[in-house]
Order: sequence, then structure tokens, then C-alpha cells
Amino acid sequence: MNILFVAAEAAPFAKVGGLGDVVGALPWALKAEHPAWDIRLVLPLHPQMNGRRWGARPLTAVTIAHRNGPITAEIYHTTHRGLPVYFITGEPVLAVSGVYSADPHTDAVKYAFFSLAALALVRFLGWKPDVFHAHDWHTALAVYALAARRERDPFFASTRTLLTVHNLPYMGAASPWLLEAFGLPPAPPESGLPPWAQAMPLPLGLAAADAITTVSPTYAREILTPAFGRGLEGFLQTRRDRLWGILNGLDTDLWNPATDMALDVRYTAATLGLRERNAAALRREVGLPTPQSPAPLVGMVGRLTEQKGVDVAVEALRLLAGFPWQAVLLGTGEPSLEEALRRLQADFPGRVRAVLRYDDVLARHIYAGADLLMLPSRYEPCGLAQMIAMRYGAVPVAAETGGLADTVRDADLSRRSTGFLLPEATPKALAFALRRAFAFFADRRRWQALQRRGMAEDFSWERPARAYARLYRRLLNFV
Ligand code: GLC
Repeated sequence: MNILFVAAEAAPFAKVGGLGDVVGALPWALKAEHPAWDIRLVLPLHPQMNGRRWGARPLTAVTIAHRNGPITAEIYHTTHRGLPVYFITGEPVLAVSGVYSADPHTDAVKYAFFSLAALALVRFLGWKPDVFHAHDWHTALAVYALAARRERDPFFASTRTLLTVHNLPYMGAASPWLLEAFGLPPAPPESGLPPWAQAMPLPLGLAAADAITTVSPTYAREILTPAFGRGLEGFLQTRRDRLWGILNGLDTDLWNPATDMALDVRYTAATLGLRERNAAALRREVGLPTPQSPAPLVGMVGRLTEQKGVDVAVEALRLLAGFPWQAVLLGTGEPSLEEALRRLQADFPGRVRAVLRYDDVLARHIYAGADLLMLPSRYEPCGLAQMIAMRYGAVPVAAETGGLADTVRDADLSRRSTGFLLPEATPKALAFALRRAFAFFADRRRWQALQRRGMAEDFSWERPARAYARLYRRLLNFV
């Protein structure tokens, strides 16, 4: 089977968020399960990427038709851990200095160009993908263009498309002019899309895809409802027979407390006592005092966005001012949320450290040293931090939504519990869950049993890879 992955990010080449982790892992996990399959990956050659570092060599140049004249796409090629990887550049890619632009229209042009160049690439290679697997809005137009082209181009006649949604609210800019400029047809009247979505990359891809997945079963159900569907719920209902939820995996080699060289002390579930030393090192590193009596160390790691409920966490900690917690909060993002964290630290100087930067090493120290990790997300298609936390023995306190609901079992509801869930992302609900967690924390034996259950969970990519393989096979039988 020939499978082509097309995405904006893939670790280690380019990574901004969870999308990069997934696309950097899934193709290789599939290859491990199916060595005979021909699996390839196409990425933009973002200007900050150094193609030479990856051994990339020029392969060819193709032209992409545009109203103002054809645009050249230069294509580079390398092999990474056994899989062919292609990088595409050209003027619209060079127009953005990073992976994403602050200007939605510049971004829309970059990714429309990249999407069409990915199709031109397989045409050039004469290599027919059986499954064309695109991710998020950035490559959704490739799915849309492929479906339109399949009608008249026998080369693509047997190619099936899969579009994976990692984050539904990011749909790409509405740009009727863009479709026109790149010679793409307007949305067909029978697409079922609401009018506002008819020139947006993600909705167009969702209308055209042979199959749609999201990154957890719960999120797949949630996006069919008004609370999570962002106005597409009605349209998605019409496509529900083609919609699946497959939970992401975790790279269990990259994230392993037994081998993590960033840690002061490495440990396993059997040597959980050693974890204390990482907690002490973390307190020293960020300058939190050693508490006189056991005080839960609460962590939070990630992008500071509305989605992640950073404001909820801040308010919940304020509500619990009378409890002896300490907190380390790490991340960058929206200025107002950074400011909220700064204010929290100013109001609780001996108890809160807000570290406003991207810092992979400190993140690892938090996973390995904090007792609890807060994840009060308003929505969470899958989420990675809760899986890492469990693997490192930090107990998640998470909103019962999306992938969080699919990976964390609540201590009140399950004897096989691995964490604490809040029914909604509100300060009160988080404060209540944290209080339950603090009470649990006071009983060392019960607490360690909870940590060990989390550490024993299997979040590896094998299961998801098998689920995708089944779906690919199924897709090929669709007409
Ligand atoms: C997006 C989602 C996150 C998911 C990731 C990878 O970043 O917000 O929930 O884990 O994509 O699929």
C-alpha cells in the first residue's frame, strides 16, 4: 500500500505543537507494523529549516498554476529513519519566516501552494498514493483539489483521502479569491457546508475527504454538538458515517523517566521514591522554598491559550489560597494570559513560579517533579501533556473533554483511577478537583498506587497505528 502524509509540521524537522509530534511519529509507527508498505511524508521547507542538516538533495522543480503566472515549487528529497521525506519550497513558503504567519492571508497562500505542490510532486514521481493522508486546515485544500481532479485525471482515480482534524477551530482564512487564483472550483452546491465556510480550507477538505478522523473518540463525538462543532456540527452530522476518532499515541522512547537525560535522577514505577529528588531539584531550580510539611507541588505546562484554560487554573489556585500548595507554571502565549500568570506570582511570591518561555528541559523537570499537573482545557482534541504526566508519575487533574476524558480515569469513579477529572473547565470545578487531589495526596500509599497506575498505562503508538492501518484498508474498499 502507498501512503502519503502531507502536513505543515513533523518532528524533528519542524514542530510548533502536538501536530508535529503526531506526524513525526505515526508514519514510522505504521512502517514498523507494515514494513512492506511504501509510506512517504511531504513537508514545507520552512525558511528556518536547514534542509542540508537532514541530508536533503534537490529532486525537481514543478510549476503551480496561478492567475498571476505560474509559481515554481522546488522539491528536495531525503530519507529519514527509512522513510522518504520530501520538502517543498517556493516563493509563498519563503514569504513566511516561520511555520505559521501572523497574517492569515499570507498563511492561506503558503499552504494552498504547498498543498497543490504536494499533488504535483506525486504526479512527477509517477507514484500513486492509495491513501493521501492530510492533517488540519493547512493541507485540507490538497484533499479538496484531489477530489476535484480525480473526476478527470485517471492518475488519482484510485487514491482515497483521509483528513485528520487535530484542532477544529483552526479552519484557515475564508478566501474565495484564493480558490480562484489557484484555479480551484468553488464549493459544489451539494457540499452541505454553511455559507460562511464555503471558501475555507478545512471545511472544504472535510466536505471532500473520503474519511475524516479526529485525534480522540470523545472529540469525534463532541464536534457533532453545538458546544464543540464551531458552527460545523450540522454539516459534520451529515458526514458522521465517515468520521472516526483515533486516540494519539506518545513517543515512549522520547518520554521515558527511566532514560530521560534531562532529569537529575531517573526512575521507574519500582523506584518511585527517587522521584522526590527531582521534586527537590525542581524547587531549587525555580526558587520555591522546601515546605515544612508535605505540600502538593502543582504544575502546568503548555501553550498559554484560551483553549488550555490558563485563566481557569489561575482562578482555581486563588480560590484555594488557604491550602498549602505550591505551583510551577510554564509556557508562552497570549499576552493577557502571561500577565495573569505574572500577577499570580506577584500575589503568591513564596508559592508560585511562572516561567514564561518555551523550555523543553524545564518541562521535563516539571513532569518528573510535580505531584499534580493541571489541564483545565475548554476543549482538547487529544492532548499530550496528560499522557506524559502519567508516564512520569505526575497525576493529571484534567477537564473531562476530548482526549483528556479518553486517557484519564477519575479517582472517585474508578478503582483503576489515574487522575482527577472536572466536569467543566471552570475555576470552581478545578478547585474542587484539586481539593479531592490534595486529600488523596495526604495518604502516601494511596497516592503512590495512583501514580503507579498512571505510569503503567500503555500510550505507545502501536495501538493507534493499527487503528489507522485498519481504516486505510477500509477506505480502499469504499467506492
Ligand atoms: C492539537 C490539539 C491537541 C492534540 C494535538 C495533536 O494541538 O489541540 O489536543 O493533542 O493537536 O493531535
